Amino acid sequence: MRVYAISLEKGGTGKSSVAVNLAVAFQQRGQRVLLIDLDAQGHASRWLGVDSKHSRPEDSILGVIRGRLLGEGAIVTEEGVAVIPANPEMAGLPVALASAPNNGLFSLRTAVTQMVARAMPFDVIVCDLPPARSPILATALAAATRCVAPVQPEDLVLQALVDLSESVRYAQQVNSSLPDVSVLRNRYAPRSAVDMVYDEELRTKYEGQLLQTIIPMRAAVRESAGFQQSVFRYPSGDASEVRALFRRLADELLTLDGDRP
Ligand SMILES: Nc1ncnc2c1ncn2[C@@H]1O[C@H](COP(=O)(O)OP(=O)(O)O)[C@@H](O)[C@H]1O
Ligand SMILES: [Mg+2]
Repeated sequence: MRVYAISLEKGGTGKSSVAVNLAVAFQQRGQRVLLIDLDAQGHASRWLGVDSKHSRPEDSILGVIRGRLLGEGAIVTEEGVAVIPANPEMAGLPVALASAPNNGLFSLRTAVTQMVARAMPFDVIVCDLPPARSPILATALAAATRCVAPVQPEDLVLQALVDLSESVRYAQQVNSSLPDVSVLRNRYAPRSAVDMVYDEELRTKYEGQLLQTIIPMRAAVRESAGFQQSVFRYPSGDASEVRALFRRLADELLTLDGDRP
């Protein structure tokens, strides 16, 4: 079982975009995928056509923290990905976690273990995280087999990457097989001299952690969200290029994690 935490403690870098399109790319590679929307804003759920305002709180991660089986109540989208949707009541997630054993740190990991023991029908879990250092990040990282951070060559983004690297190091104390954060260059278009400096910094400081696949800035990624479709369904001009890149990203991760020859 692979558990990918798509995270960065900063908004707008493409976490939800990557979570949604990577989930569908995995699914197209024959993996059975569960997407868990851990951001109360529910962007990933909405993107795949699941209206979190009309879902029940117990169908969200809140139910899992209270002991519900992972995957139960998941909504299967038209694209074949099962989604545990966000819910507005997830604003109370910190309280829900605080009242669980160990501050809920192991709630997701325990739920994944129980799911595997019951042979539940998933190969890959993709978690979309909120853009902040929150208790749910620690919970997700305690369960993750890899953390992927979408980044751009910008000062504040690199600062957030330093913070996330620290969160991952904390998580490694309870999840020793969690590798250092994998860095995904998304919406990536270094042009100015300053961008180049940050690009170079990324390549030297995160050598060995940089994913090879680079997702450039493409209209299809932005536009498809409004149509509640992944780029795999969205029929625009540059969608086919982006589809190929997300498939390549899925293959790269599956190869890294030993699930593919
Ligand atoms: N590769 C990309 N090309 C073009 N637009 C992108 C790309 N990745 C993300 N975006 C856009 O950037 C904005 C922020 O992305 P989003 O996934 O919501 O970020 P986050 O979840 O990190 O806050 C959205 O409007 C999204 O459509
Ligand atoms: Mg998001």
